[in-house]
Order: sequence, then structure tokens, then C-alpha cells
Amino acid sequence: MVQTFIGIDTMCMKSNLRHLFSIDEMNPGDIERITDDAAAFQTSSSSHSIMTGKLAGLCFFQQSTRTRIGFDAAMKKLGGSTLSVTEPRVVPRAPTEETIEDTIRVVSAYCDVIIMRHKNTQAVKNAMQVSVAPIINAGSGNDHHPTQTLVDLFHIKKHFGKLSGLRIGFVGDLQTSRAARSLARVLRHWPPAELRLMSPTGRMIEDAELDNINKASISVYDHLKPDNLDVLYVAGLPNPEDGSAFSAKTREALSVNTKILSALPDHCIVMCPLPRIDEIDLAIDGSPKATYFQQSDDGIWVRMAILQWMQCEG
Ligand code: CP
Repeated sequence: MVQTFIGIDTMCMKSNLRHLFSIDEMNPGDIERITDDAAAFQTSSSSHSIMTGKLAGLCFFQQSTRTRIGFDAAMKKLGGSTLSVTEPRVVPRAPTEETIEDTIRVVSAYCDVIIMRHKNTQAVKNAMQVSVAPIINAGSGNDHHPTQTLVDLFHIKKHFGKLSGLRIGFVGDLQTSRAARSLARVLRHWPPAELRLMSPTGRMIEDAELDNINKASISVYDHLKPDNLDVLYVAGLPNPEDGSAFSAKTREALSVNTKILSALPDHCIVMCPLPRIDEIDLAIDGSPKATYFQQSDDGIWVRMAILQWMQCEG
């Protein structure tokens, strides 16, 4: 595995963003700062105190495991603490409805930073208008998931020592995958040798989102084409139990099984933001190409770096 980060840099560089809404707002220097700091956290044996006495409000109005516990753990590893807002808004038709703005206005007065997820991107924007504390978007709508993208970039850079010039394939329902869409958009800063989009017909990333990517590098398929990739990013397909329209045949054409794994180059890594349903066969978990659990593990270092970037004095 290649790892060419700058190394430990204890200087604390504060974000010039009041909130972290979208990866689109971040410049390449900020992103590289976070991935470098994450690498430093990963290799550091020291304890950290940058968040001592500070409180993060975990406001997850949509389900999450990795992002929620990732920020919870990151905050605690930095010496801080957390509180969770889990009711009543997550319960449909809760008897005591309150606007998101009122909830966030109150929580933000108690906390030093808010980590927020919502199925509606506008709700996160509205929360940012009223919050008196910085908000980190922990995933909103189908379009924004900046902290997952930072984890993904960290993981790719750790493996290849670079972000540019790679052959990256995205497979799944790309229209609804905020993780895939955020990552694809940010690649404008590090042009890929190939951006291969593999999605059911009509479920592609919007052309406008890829305006800043060299059109000659983009290829489109309705099935998983595994040859000659450096990274296969499995965005996933909607849970069939949620009424997904995709047939079993479509799911199979866009899933990773042992046959697809064998057709991937030896150096290729298979990434996935998780959770998975049936898009990745359990039989491939033991392969060195299957790095999605390592990618998930990387989340803690990246989220520590994000909290540091949002909070510390420059
Ligand atoms: N990757 C991701 O966002 O996972 P969670 O939904 O579990 O947070």
C-alpha cells in the first residue's frame, strides 16, 4: 500500500467556512490539509485534547451508523463529548412537531458544533441559516455527503499516493447516491484518466454535475464493466424492500461477485460507502481488493481532522 501524505503537522488551520455544507465549497488545499491531518491522526500515538470542554450535537434526522458513530468517536478521541438528538423528528407523525429551524436554534446554543443529516438538502440549508454553532452536513438529500467524500479521497490517496490520473468506475443507482455524486464532482480537482459510470438506464449522475470533468474521460454503461479500473466504487442499489423498481436481472448486472472480482486488475480496489444489501457478494470480503471495511475504518481519522479544521483557532 502506498502512503505519501505530508506527515504530522501540528499547526492548526481553521476553516474559512462557517459551515461544511458541500464538498463543492472546499478548495483542493483544504481537502489536502484534511487528508494530511487524518494521516497524522492515524499514525499518532498521542492523546488529543483539542475538543476538551466542547460538545457536539449529533442531529441525525435520517438513519446512519458509520457517520453518526464516526463523529461520536472522533469527538471523544479529541477530548470532547456529544449529545444526540434522536426524537421526536425522526418519528414520522410525531405528536409534537417542531420545525427543524427551532430544533437547531436550540441545540446550537447548547453545542459547539452540530453534525446533521436530513433526507432533504433544503432542511440542512435552513438549519445553517439559524444555527449559532457551525454545522457539518453528515449527508443530505441525494446530492451532498462531504464527509464521506473526504473519507473516500483519503482512502484512495492512501492506496495510490495520488488522486489524479486514476481510472475510477462508479456502479449502482448513481442518481440517488449522494456519496457517489459528491465524489464524482470533486474529481474536477484531480482529473481522472477515466470516469466510468455504470448505472441502470435513466439513473445516471446529471450531466451538469460533471461539467468540469473532461468529457473525453467519461464513459457510460448500463452494466458493470470491470476491466482496466484502479478503483471500483460500489454506490449501491435501493433496498428492494423499499419498493425499488430494479429487477433481479438489473441488480445482478450491477453487482460485484467473484467473477467480476477476478476480472478486475490485481491492483484495483473495491470501495463502498456502506451499508450494502446484495451489491457486493459476501464471498469477496476476504480479497485484498475488497477495501470497503478499511475505507470505513478510515472514517474516524478523517472525522477527527474535519472537527479540528472546523473548530481550532488559526
Ligand atoms: N456511508 C454512510 O453514510 O454510512 P451511514 O449511512 O451508516 O452513515
